[in-house]
Amino acid sequence: MKIFLDTANLDSIKMYNDMGLVDGITTNPTLLSKEKGDPEEIMGEIVRMVKGPISLEVISTDYEGMLAEGRRLSKFGKNVVVKIPMTSEGLRAVRSLRNEQIRTNVTLIFSANQALLAAKAGASYVSPFIGRLDDIGEIGMDLVSDIVEIFANYDFECEVLVASVRHPLHVIDAAKLGADIVTLPPDVLAKMISHPLTDIGLARFLEDWRKISTSSHPKLTVPR
Ligand code: E4P
Repeated sequence: MKIFLDTANLDSIKMYNDMGLVDGITTNPTLLSKEKGDPEEIMGEIVRMVKGPISLEVISTDYEGMLAEGRRLSKFGKNVVVKIPMTSEGLRAVRSLRNEQIRTNVTLIFSANQALLAAKAGASYVSPFIGRLDDIGEIGMDLVSDIVEIFANYDFECEVLVASVRHPLHVIDAAKLGADIVTLPPDVLAKMISHPLTDIGLARFLEDWRKISTSSHPKLTVPR
């Protein structure tokens, strides 16, 4: 399963990219609004920093506007994927952009039918929003299960990009279902890295090493 970061924060992207954990990035207007600086410059920097697919979202809601924005955003770099909202106008834009070899990620997917139609229109990725479904009392992961099954039945080339991920359990569930990608807020990735037993175990190893380093091996010291 591929891991994307769901952020426009350059420091987080650099840190996790340096660890080799980042296969791609997803951004949206809300994420960009949280960062200081010019959004266009930030998007350009992300596209240069990470080799994998970078989803950049259009702001227009009409077909012509989405098409124009999609063409402009795609010029940021070859790895750009244009993020298009799941609407009728959006599906038209997906088809036209595909005809121009511009990849799209259809966002704000909340039903399996929406995912099916986005794939048929020619999207490269669909983004079911799991956390937001959980928030209204539905089981977001059931949607992922349905989409993975439907896409497998018909060999759609479209990839399932699990979005609106809120905690590490979402990641395990998505992986068990065979979703292609999860896009993670940096804090969820941080939680996946750490475990209290790892911290306790490491502290104990260092403490025990300190005991022998002071007696029989004085040169092998452990930093305090
Ligand atoms: C995905 O592409 C979206 O940017 C994101 O996952 C939305 O998550 P949220 O529901 O936490 O805003």
